[in-house]
Amino acid sequence: DAVAPASGIHQAGITTPVQEHLHFAAYDMMARTTREDVASLLADWTYAATRMMQGLEVSATGAVGGSPEAPPDDTGEALGLPASNLTITFGFGPSLFDDRFGLADQRPAGLERLPAFLGDDLDPERSDGDLCIQACADDPQVAVHAIRNLSRIAFGRASIRWSQLGFGRTSKTTSDQSTPRNLFGFKDGTANILANDAAALEENVWVPASEGPAWLTGGSYLVARRIAMLIETWDRTRLAEQDRVVGRDKAQGAPLSGGDEFTAPDFAATDAAGKSRIDARSHVRLAHPDMNDGIRILRRGFNFVDGTTDLGRLNAGLFFLSFQRSPDRFIRLQRSLATDAMGEYLKHVGSGLWAVPPAPVAGQSIGAGLLG
Ligand code: HEM
Repeated sequence: DAVAPASGIHQAGITTPVQEHLHFAAYDMMARTTREDVASLLADWTYAATRMMQGLEVSATGAVGGSPEAPPDDTGEALGLPASNLTITFGFGPSLFDDRFGLADQRPAGLERLPAFLGDDLDPERSDGDLCIQACADDPQVAVHAIRNLSRIAFGRASIRWSQLGFGRTSKTTSDQSTPRNLFGFKDGTANILANDAAALEENVWVPASEGPAWLTGGSYLVARRIAMLIETWDRTRLAEQDRVVGRDKAQGAPLSGGDEFTAPDFAATDAAGKSRIDARSHVRLAHPDMNDGIRILRRGFNFVDGTTDLGRLNAGLFFLSFQRSPDRFIRLQRSLATDAMGEYLKHVGSGLWAVPPAPVAGQSIGAGLLG
């Protein structure tokens, strides 16, 4: 159960069948580090990540094969565990392209901090970062082991700015995966872009050569949004209202215009009283490509529960992750959701945008096209 090493054009962890667990981390380069430090860090990360995705320890000596007088290379908690479909996906944030590392002329045109959206209540300590790593696996210990060891390797060069654990996928990326449910209890991922839909991926996910810069061709843009869900309020809401807000029914995930889960929604359908069956402010209608110039995104988010708040409420939500061909596509979609009926039950508290370079070619490091 090791995912094929990143030997294709695209990094693993995008179209890979979504795993069950996530550990996501955003990093900042430390003060007075140089472009050479960025390059050496990415080389060391590539080496360790390639090994871990094969179920190996971070180095040949690993957890117990080195000198007893030195701290082990590998922290050891994944010893004996299978690779668990681990994928490690790297991204470069807008701030990596400021004056510090001489990369400003390589910055993709749209790689800026995301603009403010209606209803945002962002915590800077849960947002942004020079670099990010998305580690997904079917065993949470394997995902945590990956982030822990990559953070350790970064010591002195980059440090964790914030991180997020996620459990339970909230999407599917292959047709043979069942559609999971999010913490609102609704099927999530029904209309996602699937790995075998090459045309949709080309159109919506991968950066084409014509858009540049050259180092990003075949890559993508990753958006992360920590979205708090007001679970207790939702749980006191009538079922019919929950269905109306989503635009699909809770039982089957079928559009309220009729049919089954995979029937296309019919936004023109009306009931006997002439009222739209799918509410104009429903999430599914406002997020649908028909309302957004045909734009689609590849969603790959996870549930989170981080204990309880001071008021005794679950500190829970959806750690939204999406991959898209350009940042403006996400911006267009999120602006469209400004009047989303679901907005009453959500609060966006963290945000980040990263350019995701293509997979390294054999023998090179991730981002070699950028750093030379
Ligand atoms: C669809 C839930 C946030 C974009 C859906 C569906 C559900 C859902 C239940 C219907 C099933 C499906 O097709 O997957 C949620 C929840 C969110 C959230 C609970 C926040 C906690 C977002 C955000 C975006 C987004 C922030 C993008 C900016 C979409 C899109 C679809 C969708 C594009 C598919 C629409 C279609 O083509 O029919 N979401 N969503 N969602 N959502 Fe969300």
